[in-house]
Amino acid sequence: MPRPAVRPRAFQVGLVAFVATVGCYPQSQLSTTPLYIGVRDLPYDVGPYLVQVEPGTVAVMIEHALTRPPTVSWSRPAGGDDAKGPVKTVTAVEEDGVWVAAMTELPIGPPLQYRVRSELGAHGPFDFRAGRPRGEKFRFAAFGDTRSGHKVHRSLIEAMAREDIDFLLHSGDIVYTGGVLDEWHTFFEIESPVIRRVPIFAAVGNHDVSLRGHFRRYFLMSRINAGNRYYSQDWGSVRVLLMDSSAEGRKGSAQYRYLAAKMKEAADQNLVTLLVLHHPPYSAGAHGSDLEMREIVGDLGPKYGLEVVLAGHDHNYERTKRIDGVTYLVSASGGAPIRRMTPSWFSERVRTEPHFVIFDVDRNSLVGRAVNLAGETFDSFVVPPNPARGPY
Ligand SMILES: [Fe+2]
Repeated sequence: MPRPAVRPRAFQVGLVAFVATVGCYPQSQLSTTPLYIGVRDLPYDVGPYLVQVEPGTVAVMIEHALTRPPTVSWSRPAGGDDAKGPVKTVTAVEEDGVWVAAMTELPIGPPLQYRVRSELGAHGPFDFRAGRPRGEKFRFAAFGDTRSGHKVHRSLIEAMAREDIDFLLHSGDIVYTGGVLDEWHTFFEIESPVIRRVPIFAAVGNHDVSLRGHFRRYFLMSRINAGNRYYSQDWGSVRVLLMDSSAEGRKGSAQYRYLAAKMKEAADQNLVTLLVLHHPPYSAGAHGSDLEMREIVGDLGPKYGLEVVLAGHDHNYERTKRIDGVTYLVSASGGAPIRRMTPSWFSERVRTEPHFVIFDVDRNSLVGRAVNLAGETFDSFVVPPNPARGPY
């Protein structure tokens, strides 16, 4: 039987958030940490920020009431302020209230720059890349549950902006109320220092779902996977699968078939594979393990050599022991109230404080480290190729 688009428990979660006072990260520690106070240095309601449509195609996204479409020009940087290589220009098209300037046939790997021109002025250049060649080293970051914890969110973004990352993963619950436009505007304003130059790959959380479809339009789902909220992105030797854990995903469903096909393809191509979803298959946190997700992921993951599952929803950090070859992470302290947790048989490392996770990819392994607001690494780990199949 089809499941409703929004799970009933989404309402329970909202209720829990309203009454949650069980955060175990001391406020005194938060207040002693210098907080990034962002200034809006660009004139747009939202953006520019980057969404990868596919490797080699990156869309510059802007939301603002403009009488004429903005244009975006890109080139290789040639030193100084002006890019002197061949410059290509695209005029943005309005799609569901967002200006979308899709830069296509981009060279994969080298540093690039783009500039935005509109009736509000010229902005940029902004550095970016359109993917990486197979086998090249790179770094990416992950976190989740930013919701309405703006001070913590800003601080994490400030720290993340100092890392040389290629893309950002978000494990969902981007905002508190998915139908409220202002919340999305605040999210993008805080994220701007990072996602104006690296694409964001986000999984949809229960708080993000609404009939207004903001998740779909801000993340350009119409162009990435036919309007679904589950999709796949490749970057160098890595495949990231983003699951919609609020929608039907059990065996036999369209989402299950999609994930299975993408995982099989990744295994055939020897890609290291991460699955990002909001509801955690294994969690020692307040909500606990989602047994339905455990069944789905537990079925697909070992079969196709999935290396990492990254989840949100429980506002804490957790790394499990490897279970049937899969490492399960929860990274969901990007702003939402921290909650207590009780380690379980599967827990390898747990932590209750704001953080993000940095991954370094090389030809033989995926190396992760979880970093707190003070810049301290409180967990580090290595994920070997799965199965043992040689370099990525
Ligand atoms: Fe959630």
